Amino acid sequence: MPNHESVTPDAYSVIQSLRSVGYNLQSAIADIIDNSITARASEIKIRFHWNMDNSYISIHDNGNGMSENDLRQAMRMGSKNPLDRREKNDLGRFGMGLKTAAFSLCKRLTVKSGYKHDETFIRCWDLDYIKDTNDWTLITHAADNDSSLFLQQHEIKESGTVVLLEKLDRIITSPFNQKAYTEFLKKVESVEKHISMIFHRFLSGPQAVKIYINENEIKPWDPFLTNEVATQELATEQFKFGNTTITISPYILPHHSKITKGTFDRAEGLKGWNAHQGFYVYRNKRLLVAGTWFNMFKKEEPFKLARIMLDISSDLDFDWKIDIKKAAAVPPQEIVHEVEKIAKIAREASYRVYYHRGAKLAVDNTVSSVDYVWEQIYKHGILYHKVNRNHSLLLNFITTLSSEQKRMLNAYLAIVEENTPSNLLSYAVGKQENNEGNSNNSALDTEDAVNHIRDIIYAFRISGYKDDEIVNRLKHMKSFIPYERLFQRLMEETN
Ligand SMILES: Nc1ncnc2c1ncn2[C@@H]1O[C@H](COP(=O)(O)OP(=O)(O)O)[C@@H](O)[C@H]1O
Ligand SMILES: [Mg+2]
Repeated sequence: MPNHESVTPDAYSVIQSLRSVGYNLQSAIADIIDNSITARASEIKIRFHWNMDNSYISIHDNGNGMSENDLRQAMRMGSKNPLDRREKNDLGRFGMGLKTAAFSLCKRLTVKSGYKHDETFIRCWDLDYIKDTNDWTLITHAADNDSSLFLQQHEIKESGTVVLLEKLDRIITSPFNQKAYTEFLKKVESVEKHISMIFHRFLSGPQAVKIYINENEIKPWDPFLTNEVATQELATEQFKFGNTTITISPYILPHHSKITKGTFDRAEGLKGWNAHQGFYVYRNKRLLVAGTWFNMFKKEEPFKLARIMLDISSDLDFDWKIDIKKAAAVPPQEIVHEVEKIAKIAREASYRVYYHRGAKLAVDNTVSSVDYVWEQIYKHGILYHKVNRNHSLLLNFITTLSSEQKRMLNAYLAIVEENTPSNLLSYAVGKQENNEGNSNNSALDTEDAVNHIRDIIYAFRISGYKDDEIVNRLKHMKSFIPYERLFQRLMEETN
């Protein structure tokens, strides 16, 4: 009596469950493209063909192709062991992508493949046939005339593979009217946008892959606007993890006034500016997640200019908890701290660029965690830097001071601000630009200036300086020149 029994899974039920793994049209097509890229295709042609319930989607690549044995193995559920080491450029993992992606869209998956001119092989899973036989019965030819005709339209030249998806019951449902057709076209457009994002690093460069949808070549969407001069690239950091390296390169995108409206609108991406902030996780250069703070921070408006490229290799799949759909990733505990540190720096940089042209910075409770040192104000056409008086260290310190000491500190800060190189420069530039009759050469408005000057006079006086000594000491400061008369007046007033 054997002490075990073999229980084979029920074919139809298994496949039915796999249909609900959670792919959508975009992620399913992307997973099929992964296989083409892994097979070193240089050209991938996607076709969305509308013909009511006879519509189909095909993905045709000129990659390595498969032998008959390879093809049979490729169609097997779990064709590879997820624990096996993959080649460096392999975008696959679970040996399930092709099948689960296909079944989440359609009921019939046919694959034609070959690697020698003139010799191709066909295998087909048809859910209706599996239902009838209730067995893992793989069809070894085109399932009917339509299939055969569609496949003939996609001739394999040297080598390559055609993946044909028919009976698109999850994509197209009756009635097959004009509205359904319009919906279909909208879906095609969303797939195009998704591909231009997910594969943007394959779509450019010297060995770029060409991907077409219905004859239109897909252009890459560069989340980092690397071609814009105003984009800031912060220092790249690398971490050793196991025997692989994780590379993190933060980018701060330009303030919208520094790029054209077209560029700004395109940079918004599929989900909008806010959603696309944070880390972009790439596995072997293929984008998995297009903007996340890994639950460390919330996505908020002033941080939307921070987009951080994070590269991992497929050896780290289990450390990063890569899922079957390749749509999620979680940093391993060992490097969470480093990742968070980089995020903070990038977020602060985004914050500064975001408010570049703002009037005085609004004190925003949602971002109180950011202790930026300089406030940027923009007045009379001149950018001017002020010390952020709400910096937590400064605030803590000020509370320990007497009111006299507070005035002294303010006077000193005003001098620091007046003599900050960037402000002196702004002043010089502003003076040139405002030469035509505008008497207010200062970046500060008069009320601010009066208060600062009062504090400065006060601070000098209580430190024992006489009025002519004060003027003498200040005279050689460029920024003092426009205030000289105001100084004299205020000194007389407060004498
Ligand atoms: N377009 C293709 N060209 C060549 N081989 C392919 C292609 N698509 C799939 N394959 C083969 O089928 C196997 C199974 O694919 P898939 O189910 O997507 O799982 P995975 O990509 O995780 O290995 C791949 O590992 C590959 O060997
Ligand atoms: Mg795959």
